[in-house]
Amino acid sequence: MTGVPQIFQAITLISYLFFHWKGALDHESIKLKVFVNRNHIIYVQQWYLIYFEDQTENYISQQLPLVQTLDPIQISLDGLKPYTKYNYLFHFDQLSKFNSSNITNNYEIFWFKTLQTPYLKQNLSFSFSSCAKTGSEDHVFQDIIDLFPDHQFFIQMGDIYYGDIIQNQETLYDESYYRMFESKSQSKFYQYYGLVYIWDDHDFGDNNSGESSPGKQAATSVYLKNVPHYPLRYLPQDLPQKYLNSEGIYQYFIAGQTLFVIMDLRTHFRDGVRAMDQNQLMWVIEILDWCKQNQKIDNLVVVSSIPWLGKDWVTFKEQRTIIGNKMAEVMKAKQNVLLITGDSHMVAFDNGYNNDAGGFPHCISSPMDKTPSCKGGQYTFGPFSGNSQYSTLDITYDPATNINCFIVKGWRGKDVLYNYNSCNQKDRELKTSNSCFTSVLQIFINTFVPLLLILVVLVLIWRYTLRFSNQLSHQQVAQQYINLVKKDDQEQNQNLHSYTFDEKQNKQPGTAQKKNSASNLNEVEREKFMNQEIPPNQLPTFLNSAQNQKSVENI
Ligand SMILES: [Fe+2]
Repeated sequence: MTGVPQIFQAITLISYLFFHWKGALDHESIKLKVFVNRNHIIYVQQWYLIYFEDQTENYISQQLPLVQTLDPIQISLDGLKPYTKYNYLFHFDQLSKFNSSNITNNYEIFWFKTLQTPYLKQNLSFSFSSCAKTGSEDHVFQDIIDLFPDHQFFIQMGDIYYGDIIQNQETLYDESYYRMFESKSQSKFYQYYGLVYIWDDHDFGDNNSGESSPGKQAATSVYLKNVPHYPLRYLPQDLPQKYLNSEGIYQYFIAGQTLFVIMDLRTHFRDGVRAMDQNQLMWVIEILDWCKQNQKIDNLVVVSSIPWLGKDWVTFKEQRTIIGNKMAEVMKAKQNVLLITGDSHMVAFDNGYNNDAGGFPHCISSPMDKTPSCKGGQYTFGPFSGNSQYSTLDITYDPATNINCFIVKGWRGKDVLYNYNSCNQKDRELKTSNSCFTSVLQIFINTFVPLLLILVVLVLIWRYTLRFSNQLSHQQVAQQYINLVKKDDQEQNQNLHSYTFDEKQNKQPGTAQKKNSASNLNEVEREKFMNQEIPPNQLPTFLNSAQNQKSVENI
């Protein structure tokens, strides 16, 4: 760095490394793809990747090339110890100037943990999801880091960005990746965890894209260039490698006693016809057969970018039946089988009760940051339609019983949506069929029933208040009535004397009888009224009639 002003050197050192991520993680190796800043001016003359086993000081260094292109540098770290945590950093100077005694202050330290040795039974935990807007800064990325700082990897099941590219131009795909790397939250997230990534429609082409997508070649080239991935189209070592020369990015890996099979459902997708070509279908069948027969594999996890129930797979009836039947065979021979999927912007889990093609457990995990939706199917748990969603799988092994438990949880941010444990008989045998309709109904019930209860309470309060005021009104009117009757009785007494006099005067007899009848009627109605048998709103009429009666009598 001679000849460059010191302050300029500092800026250059900070900005030279743009982004890196790591994948193809196994028990003894890992691959990193390192991107330098596209606006870089190379004043860095040497730089190194330095890595060391956690809690040790045995530093290993690897000099990195100086590049002037947007293409990432691929680094392979081999010969690592299984199931071991390593730390690493980037050093931008002569190696002799590396100061190991104070690295936490001078360097940003990254980490990874190698996978469990194949067939060795150990615990394993990871998270998985799909669908994030290009360059999203959603809090979900930090939430996962906060809750699960020790997970070894994250499975991204498609739509890692929404490029919707319909041109065969690699620069457009590169641009989408770079926009994702520029997101602070995604940059931190993907530099934190090991990556397992398979594409879906929006990061392969546009909506529902497949083999006829104009950008297919460019998408494939840029994936191979930018994404650290497992060897493509390989089968386990003891099988003949028949599919290496075909197309597609399907891959597998083994972590301890669990086999992961990752399908590519875009390269040869034909809408409503097929999810994959014949080569991949045969690859899936062969590796599932291998799994079924391998006594050292306890568990199977199959990754599908599209959901098994409700949409897409249902339209590929033939391929769905073949794969479903094969997975059902594997399930009989293994402790746990689970299909994990993305695409539908919701979280849901089915313990197999609603799976009409294979009867194995299946879950949907989406979206990290995209408009929520509900795309059909029936499930034991969910569907939960929302944003900032993902799922976790904890594989716990008990040496005493030789049993693996699959503990699956759906999450929204830092809140648990459901919890399924394969070792819990109640969870395994649960026979519920929740659909998007029941989900919407549930939202309706959760939202409107409390409102309805509040409304009922308000109506009751209103009626009680009205009744109380009516009682007051009763009492007031009753008093008026009593006064009126008293006055009426006084008048009658006076008139009785006059009637006697009138009768004596041969005036019309029987008037007093009438008055007594009216008085009796008033007595009866007053009784009814006081017992509240007469509604208060009839009182004016009643009083009027009493007054009318009085006025008739006065004629
Ligand atoms: Fe999506």
